[in-house]
Amino acid sequence: MIIAIDGPTASGKGTISKRIAAHFGLPHLDTGLLYRAVGRQTLLNGGDPDNAADALAAVDFPAELLEDPVLRNEATGSLASRASVHPAVRQALFERQRAFALQDGGAVLDGRDIGTVIAPDADVKLFITASVDARAQRRFKEMQERGASITLEEIAADLRRRDERDTNRKDAPLVAASDAYVIDTSQLGIEEAFAAALDAIAQARAE
Ligand code: DC
Repeated sequence: MIIAIDGPTASGKGTISKRIAAHFGLPHLDTGLLYRAVGRQTLLNGGDPDNAADALAAVDFPAELLEDPVLRNEATGSLASRASVHPAVRQALFERQRAFALQDGGAVLDGRDIGTVIAPDADVKLFITASVDARAQRRFKEMQERGASITLEEIAADLRRRDERDTNRKDAPLVAASDAYVIDTSQLGIEEAFAAALDAIAQARAE
């Protein structure tokens, strides 16, 4: 069983994906991490993620980079969003994601284009979304817990910029697949969101 989970940043898709993978005993790939590693490696190389050649030169990042906590921060998320615009970068990361999806026994992948490009043949497609306000509030709480000094307004502005870039790029934009179950988590706690995802998976498998 291949489960494809897409959605914008801070929608809850990361947490839901991990929970779903654990529930079904499936391996999980957070594909955003690959783009984050490319964005970070571009910077380490002294390059510019807006430049296609610079970003492409970073796709051979060392595997250990995926473990670096710096990949999780907001600044790296923006670098990833910029690097991910280039078709050659997306192409270079395609096989790795496709092979993960096709492994024996199935897999859970989350990202922006899993249901549309990486695994259009997925058994189940979920699109996890939430309002900018709800997502900004969540991210703000997380950042405060980590002691970061950033305002709610700055976070909301960054989310909007990232949504805008991810949604309007030509190649593999952020969009729900026509056969995806859309789950809006704006008003849902994590347990409710997880329950809604399980319901959608049960429905998709019954079809
Ligand atoms: O899910 P995330 O916030 O870690 O993703 C970081 C950026 O990477 C996101 O803004 C766009 C890009 N990305 C992508 O283009 N395609 C994916 N499948 C996953 C992430």
